[in-house]
Amino acid sequence: MRRKKLALAAGFCLAFLLGTLLNLLCVPGFDHHQQQLQNGVTPVPLIAASRQGKGSSQDLLKQLQERYKEVIRYREHQAPVSATVRLLLRPLERRLMDLAQRSSENVHKPENSKSSIPDLSPVSPLSSKIDVSLRPPLLSCQDITNGSNVRYLGSGYTKAVYKLVLNDTVSVALKSVDFGGHDIQNCVQLYRNLEDCYRLASFKIVKEMILLQRLQHPNILQLYGYCYQDSNDISDTLTTITELGSPLEMIQLLQSSWEDRFRICLSLVRLLHYLAHSPLGSITLLDFRPRQFVIVDGELKVTDLDDASMDGTSCSSNADCFMEFPARNFTLQCSVEGKCQNMNEKRNLYNAYRFFFTYLLPHSAPSSLRPLLDSIVNATGELRWGIDETLAQFEKILYMYKNGLYLPNITHAPMAGYEYKQVADISIAEEDYRCWPSYHHNGCLLSVFNINEAIKICESHSQCQAFVWTNQTTWTGRQLVFFKAGSRNLVPDIDKITYLKLTS
Ligand SMILES: Nc1ncnc2c1ncn2[C@@H]1O[C@H](COP(=O)(O)OP(=O)(O)O)[C@@H](O)[C@H]1O
Ligand SMILES: [Mg+2]
Repeated sequence: MRRKKLALAAGFCLAFLLGTLLNLLCVPGFDHHQQQLQNGVTPVPLIAASRQGKGSSQDLLKQLQERYKEVIRYREHQAPVSATVRLLLRPLERRLMDLAQRSSENVHKPENSKSSIPDLSPVSPLSSKIDVSLRPPLLSCQDITNGSNVRYLGSGYTKAVYKLVLNDTVSVALKSVDFGGHDIQNCVQLYRNLEDCYRLASFKIVKEMILLQRLQHPNILQLYGYCYQDSNDISDTLTTITELGSPLEMIQLLQSSWEDRFRICLSLVRLLHYLAHSPLGSITLLDFRPRQFVIVDGELKVTDLDDASMDGTSCSSNADCFMEFPARNFTLQCSVEGKCQNMNEKRNLYNAYRFFFTYLLPHSAPSSLRPLLDSIVNATGELRWGIDETLAQFEKILYMYKNGLYLPNITHAPMAGYEYKQVADISIAEEDYRCWPSYHHNGCLLSVFNINEAIKICESHSQCQAFVWTNQTTWTGRQLVFFKAGSRNLVPDIDKITYLKLTS
């Protein structure tokens, strides 16, 4: 039995690794240059520039302006901004206004039509009416200076992330531009201008900060504050202070219980539902890979938002609404308004399917839930459902799981034919055996809906001679039960109940 499970898990890990490799090699969004294109940011003229061996300062300036305009668009979209947000951007605005003066290009558009290029001048005082400000207490440079135990956590294309302990108690994450990262390195190689390259990269953090602030959801990382300070000969370098998570390790997740894997998928679906109906409109995550998410207390949260986009795709026919993925392509409908229908939502959903659902949802699920889970995997893999329907199906499964509706026959009386002696305020020391997937690495700790399910599990394990009903529950409210190979070491333990198997 155990060997079979191990083989199953190993097979699954292999499938996951192959799948991920395929996704990474073929995913169109994996190429950062491509992402910028999709994101509406004017791409770096890499080919032309590298042929000359060096990019021109005009190219860089143009990119800086484009990215600045993007930041302003995100800041101002729908809701005008408060004084706090204006403060947030002040150093950037100042720099950009200088830049704008140096530039011969006119970035102003005369009419204030909706599609106009945003003005680089300070925001009108009228805009402070809608509150999108950071809620106090807001962390700042002082908190970073007073913090301790800085530890490197990870980095991506642009940013490096560190852990910091505040007041010897609370841990937070610090995010800043990674001077040794690909983004800066590629830019400096091309343009030989560290300061402007830094600025270009830091706009991504500003955009992320604005999005983290404007999008409030339990599955979006919380922004606690930010700090502008001089470092590396560059003035006003930006560091954001956010909620701390742990990087998402897919291999580790594959070894966890179905209940925990379902939680990850459910939190992702809740997040995508929010993003599809966000205050900024429907938002898509162009760089959608597991490493853009972290885990906080067992919940998945998105951390990397610099490649998020709220821009819909314009079209004149369905052929313009083509979405390309490694294993499948889709053509969506072009609406009469000339927009690809639900493209942002559907891109997110298909990515959730290919990076998360296929690996995490069905395997080792309660057998009666398998058909429902398979239908989620199939429907999202074919983009037959939108996010609303997908969320409704997830919530239905959660309800069934929480209420034991997945169990074949719910009887509340002890199961006939199996005799167990119940001993209150007692547990069993040691006498553990391993099982899979256990919440305890050395023992067999599983979650159950009721006593009957615990008896069923004990009867299915050849080693099981007893089990201890703990007073702990999982996130769904299910009871944690320790299954034991013997009952020689009974010890007093308040609030625990031991069930001893009676041999006939
Ligand atoms: N709040 C956080 N807590 C813990 N780790 C994080 C946090 N934010 C990001 N990370 C880790 O740092 C890496 C880089 O962060 P990310 O924002 O994705 O940067 P980039 O834009 O360069 O990809 C992530 O892949 C993740 O593993
Ligand atoms: Mg990232």
